[in-house]
Amino acid sequence: MSDRIAPVVADLDDVTLRQQFHVDFSPIGWHLGHAAWQRERWVLREVGGLPPLAPEFDALFDTFRSRKGARGTRLPDARRLRSYVEQVDEAMELARSRHRGEPQFERAARLADNHERQHVEIVLCVRLLGRLYVEPVGPTESPIESELPEIADGPWIPVEGGAFRLGAPRGDASDTESALQKDVDEDAWDNEHEAHEVHIDPFLMRRHPVSEAEWLGWMHAGGYERREWWSPEGWSWRTHHGVVAPGHWERSADGRWYRRALCGPTLAGGARPVAHVSWYEADAYARSQGARLPTEAEWERAASDARDKRRYPWGPSFEVGRADLGRCSGDCAALGAHPRGASPSGIEDLCGGVWEWVADHFAPYPGFVPGRYAEYSAPWFGARHRVARGGSWLTAPSNARVTFRNWYEPHVRQPCLGVRLVRDA
Ligand code: AVJ
Ligand code: FE
Repeated sequence: MSDRIAPVVADLDDVTLRQQFHVDFSPIGWHLGHAAWQRERWVLREVGGLPPLAPEFDALFDTFRSRKGARGTRLPDARRLRSYVEQVDEAMELARSRHRGEPQFERAARLADNHERQHVEIVLCVRLLGRLYVEPVGPTESPIESELPEIADGPWIPVEGGAFRLGAPRGDASDTESALQKDVDEDAWDNEHEAHEVHIDPFLMRRHPVSEAEWLGWMHAGGYERREWWSPEGWSWRTHHGVVAPGHWERSADGRWYRRALCGPTLAGGARPVAHVSWYEADAYARSQGARLPTEAEWERAASDARDKRRYPWGPSFEVGRADLGRCSGDCAALGAHPRGASPSGIEDLCGGVWEWVADHFAPYPGFVPGRYAEYSAPWFGARHRVARGGSWLTAPSNARVTFRNWYEPHVRQPCLGVRLVRDA
């Protein structure tokens, strides 16, 4: 697991670092520079009061000042890029020795760390797009025969209705009452506030996300052809792009489906959670099952206990073995491999594995105030984006907490996005 981008891209050359593999995703070298530049800006410049290390980078690494399509050609060469990252790290060491323990410094440093961790995940997804396998299977890219363990149709688990507090308690030092609470979350992003009470009707949730085996069965049952299962928008997306399978799935000459994973191509249709599906596909699958996607509030309630809000479904802190989280190589784990990570109601794989699309658009909670990273959430609120919850096997634990909210446009499927079903009770 890596909290840093540099070690995850150490093997890539200058040409690869500036390559843009998809219009929606910046070149890997840009992510490397951007994460360092944000750390410099938030911690060294804004808190430490230091002058810019490389003022010429401001217009390149600031998301709002550089056009995505031009980032690759504008990048400095790989040596300069890597030395800038090292310069920021060295300056951080010095700053830490001066400011250690100061709440302002610590808060900004934590923000920069959690921000870089999000970009580590994006970089790994871009590596997959570019077939830059992290544990390559060999030069020929020949598919590996992998075991396809059976996964029984997991049962539906009842979740109680009632009042529920949605969102993260604020860890603002000026609010003594909440600061004294043990469950204040220092890693929470602005969009997780304000915590507020919502009412939930009782519902049923599948114990596991939808597996690849189930998805393959759905494909054979005409999932991508039966218009009645799709929303009008989803159907037109599916038709326009000729979508017949999840992202990174390919049919080989022998008629079998293979999926490209970070470790290379492997046989599809097993016990792993299906990943790289758009919100449109998730929604169509749910309709075909007489089910639906959970609301954000239902998802968070299912991952929590009604009275005792925890950071993770199993408790207050991350422990290896409880969830498929925070990895940088290999492949996603099979469903059901982490029973000790179950929520209080017995639902598994909520955090880790795949992000789970939910029904809601990305909207501010009541009383929302932008954080230090003012453009983190606010520009993206509205009906264009849908929320996804729970983190994937590539997500750092600090960003896979039960209150964390991710968001993408409904056609996006490059990240590890999967499906969790619910039904009315
Ligand atoms: C929360 C993953 C949607 O990639 O746009 C990183 C994370 N924001 N830097 C994104 C983010 C700014 C964000 N997502
Ligand atoms: Fe960013």
